[in-house]
Amino acid sequence: MRVTNQTRDHGANAYGGIKVFAGSSHPQLAEEIATYLGLTLSGRDCIKFPNENIFWRLHESVRGQDVFLIQTLSSPVSDNIMEMLIAIDCLRRDSAARITVVMPYMAYARSDKKDQPRVPITARLMADMIVTAGADRYITVDLHAGQIQGFFNIPGDELTGFHLLSDYFADEAIENAVIVTADLGFAKKGRNFAAKLHLPMAFVEKRRIGNNAQSEILTVIGDVENHNVIIVDDEISTAGSIENTVKVVKEAGALDVYVSATHGVFVGPALERLRKLPIKEIIVTNTVAPTPDRLLPNMKYISVGRLLGEVVYRVHLGRSVGEMFNE
Ligand code: R5P
Repeated sequence: MRVTNQTRDHGANAYGGIKVFAGSSHPQLAEEIATYLGLTLSGRDCIKFPNENIFWRLHESVRGQDVFLIQTLSSPVSDNIMEMLIAIDCLRRDSAARITVVMPYMAYARSDKKDQPRVPITARLMADMIVTAGADRYITVDLHAGQIQGFFNIPGDELTGFHLLSDYFADEAIENAVIVTADLGFAKKGRNFAAKLHLPMAFVEKRRIGNNAQSEILTVIGDVENHNVIIVDDEISTAGSIENTVKVVKEAGALDVYVSATHGVFVGPALERLRKLPIKEIIVTNTVAPTPDRLLPNMKYISVGRLLGEVVYRVHLGRSVGEMFNE
């Protein structure tokens, strides 16, 4: 990743000066982004009234300014979504010239199609709500499916955490390693990850037995026997997929197992599952805050702060983001 190694001159652009606001969901990451930009976070109050209604008040005017709002959509999901929408509305009503919502982890991204009768497409609803609230742009990291970009009718930048994760494994130089994806839907991204590290690939395939949706068998396609395995996925939520994948590669003769994902969402039984599994290291980025309930001794967080900071800087100046990745 190419970052701008110079004093960041962020004088006013066509949208005015830059201001960065933090929602309540990930203050450390917002702080990191602001520090990268050489700014302090703009002040605001966020109050939750006894009736659970959320209220935002800005400490300073944003009239005619280029405003970035940092809010990741982790637990409490509904509150964080609602706060984000209220904050966008607040900024819009104070006459911000442009509002960019920086949403490192987008909730509801897995609800991206009608894959059974009578179900919603909530990722589309999310995009509609963000646009309706008044956002002009969005920045996010590793959407569950790239097509979700098309749900937004405003410009946006979808970044990836995989460069950071693959750089980590390149530095580790794990011998005799093979990249494994937890499901075939992730095969293409997994292949890119493997190609970057010049490593071979294997896949875990989930196959249904008969017509019973509950009965599945897992098989490994590719060679993991006597190899160190690096499992990659976009997110770890309940860690059910990772649990199955670790078990099946171990049964197939894998040596050390490493697990990596962009989003360490870690909900419900995730930590207990991961604690019990024979995993050497779990590497995730901090798109979701590494709170104490999301930490294990074998877990490492890689920050997306510099990546997001640089993208915010480039968006503000109207400079290419692809250039950072030689695109
Ligand atoms: C699935 O399509 C995703 O790539 C992840 O494998 C999934 O979101 C992980 O969920 P969980 O940790 O609950 O198994």
